[in-house]
Amino acid sequence: MSPEAETPSPEMIDRVRRAVASAEVVLVISGAGVSAESGVPTFRAPGGWWRKLDPKKLATVAAFRTDPVTVWQWYEFRRGIVAGAAPNPGHIALSRLERSGRRVAIVTQNVDDLHERAGSTEVIHIHGFLWRTRCTVEGKVSEDRRVSLGGLPPVCGSCGGNLRPDIVWFDEELPSGEVTRVEGLLRGRVDVVLVVGTEATFDYISEWAIEAQRKGAMLVEVNPERTQLSPRADVCLRGPAGSVLPAVCRE
Ligand code: OAD
Repeated sequence: MSPEAETPSPEMIDRVRRAVASAEVVLVISGAGVSAESGVPTFRAPGGWWRKLDPKKLATVAAFRTDPVTVWQWYEFRRGIVAGAAPNPGHIALSRLERSGRRVAIVTQNVDDLHERAGSTEVIHIHGFLWRTRCTVEGKVSEDRRVSLGGLPPVCGSCGGNLRPDIVWFDEELPSGEVTRVEGLLRGRVDVVLVVGTEATFDYISEWAIEAQRKGAMLVEVNPERTQLSPRADVCLRGPAGSVLPAVCRE
């Protein structure tokens, strides 16, 4: 934890808890940090993937064209990690919040399914989903939850073309359907926006959070570290999602 990090005071926790308790609609924008306590590595934090691996060689269309086997090996490795992981108290707190009668819409950069396995029902995966494949020829998307897909790269059962992970890579646009859903959310009511476990590296993450704030939502960041979004947040709760979310999502 950086020297700037500080444990959130009970008053800060209580301020957010009250805002969440009286909210009709909570928007959650989550990133790798929300799954860190489940044992799923982050990207940029110490121990994260991009500290030791080159994203250009693993998470681009160009890399897949050059070496689909290496790219698939990395995704199979990550499938294995996620298959062996379980939702942590942070994921569970968000699903309980939804069950308490509020709309809790989660826009996640995570490709894992831990929000869904915790019980959340409105989850928008803006960077794709680890358990889906896409045919590089026909574009057909299929769900496949096997950790290992057999011979790599796997091929499409109908046309024989290579299958790729249905993930949004660095040299690709965000999926338009998901972006439309996020824009629809932002046009409606949002009382609190919780930005959890993300470095907010991509401008659209900050822009969506700030748009909700501009329309009246309280912008809360949950992260043990400062990020580029921190100066814009109404409240920064500097702590791990697995402790902070259960504290602020309590009735
Ligand atoms: P990052 O790895 O960039 O950031 C993870 C954030 O989580 C950091 O700000 C950490 O401080 C924070 N964090 C770590 N442990 C935490 C905990 N227990 N509770 C709360 N926060 C914690 O991950 P993202 O911001 O999600 O894209 O990265 C966004 C995208 O960049 C990913 O979707 C991925 C990556 O490259 C692709 O692969 C295309």
